Amino acid sequence: MKNNAVPSLEGLVRADLDDICADLSEEFARMGGKRLLITGGAGFLGHYLVQAPLHWNEARRPDQAIRVTVFDNYVGGMPNWLKNLEGNKNLRLVTHDMCEPLPRDMPDFDYVIHAACIASPTYYRRRPIQTMDSNVNGLRNLLDHAVAQKDRGKPMRGLLYLSTSEIYGDPPPEEIPTREDYRGNVSCTGPRACYDESKRFGETLCISFAQEYGLQVTIARPFNNYGPGLKITDGRVIPDFARDIFHDRDIVMYSDGSPKRTFCYSADAISGYYKALINGRSGESYNIGIDRPEISVTELAERMIGTAKELFGYKGKILHKVSKDENYLVDNPNRRCPLIDKAREHLAYEPKVSIEEGIRRSIIWYHHAREPVEA
Ligand SMILES: NC(=O)c1ccc[n+]([C@@H]2O[C@H](COP(=O)([O-])OP(=O)(O)OC[C@H]3O[C@@H](n4cnc5c(N)ncnc54)[C@H](O)[C@@H]3O)[C@@H](O)[C@H]2O)c1
Repeated sequence: MKNNAVPSLEGLVRADLDDICADLSEEFARMGGKRLLITGGAGFLGHYLVQAPLHWNEARRPDQAIRVTVFDNYVGGMPNWLKNLEGNKNLRLVTHDMCEPLPRDMPDFDYVIHAACIASPTYYRRRPIQTMDSNVNGLRNLLDHAVAQKDRGKPMRGLLYLSTSEIYGDPPPEEIPTREDYRGNVSCTGPRACYDESKRFGETLCISFAQEYGLQVTIARPFNNYGPGLKITDGRVIPDFARDIFHDRDIVMYSDGSPKRTFCYSADAISGYYKALINGRSGESYNIGIDRPEISVTELAERMIGTAKELFGYKGKILHKVSKDENYLVDNPNRRCPLIDKAREHLAYEPKVSIEEGIRRSIIWYHHAREPVEA
């Protein structure tokens, strides 16, 4: 494929980090000099969750730096962007499986973001028990640790649980866009249940600990984030389409293309997560995503094809196929679109990156950063 003067990887990531840090100037200032634990920090959302505070630190005195610790089992290996950060004095990388008890020498933290979980349906359906354990036992261990810290007079300032929009299941049309108080239409035994139901129980754990122990715990419900850091092998729809594009073949679609989603660029969502951690009200859940445009999977593919054509002269089209995985589409929601008024009001969250720009940045990121993959 040809290459029409594509911006560099470093320039693209730096621009996103600048945007995130500008949006979070007040929140990061409050976190300065404090200790932050990010579980699952080697994953897609970790890409900017980890890099944003380290980027902010660059223009700060050492005593104002946010000190970041990552717990991850690195089951997919350590990504290059994280390897490149090894040696950063404000970053500690720990190999830890959140299904296991916390390390004996677990330090105290001021802030915790629990993101560790198998998040892609392709993979969590293969490991349902591990998926539930990380969401339930892993979270429980962190909440117990928060209680112990409080008892020792060193209370955490905030714990954020990354839940999911999947806790709503497949809402009826009158519940779209979906508000936080919609209770959901979810199967407790279907192929996605290990993920959806453990996230639901995780939320119940959070609000119960917030109420019973007076902990500062908030919940974010991510709605279809995408962008730099989302591995091309992840199995979610945007990397799958990118994989076809960069193999210079047609985009394979396993649905009829009609399910609709709003897609939220990761830099916007990361601002939302930090705002929920710092500004969120204890025991409250917040939808973090973007409320428009709601587009079909076919429209998504067409937009990706158009952008890849413009940037690289890609000539592929959409090709419909039936997946060999018979559960591929079972319990797949028809529409997913958040109402984000609560996050706007409580958190001052406002996503800014358009779908056109987000797709452009994502395709450029895949062009530079994708690791060699099997067809
Ligand atoms: N990205 C989205 O659009 C989205 C949507 C809904 C919910 N979420 C939630 O946000 C969180 C992060 O999602 P992501 O997209 O970055 O996922 P991801 O799969 O890219 O990253 C998850 C990270 O967690 C690690 N991990 C998994 N199980 C672990 C365990 N038992 N112990 C330690 N580490 C473990 C993985 O190695 C990986 O680095 C997840 O909890 C996910 O459910 C994300």
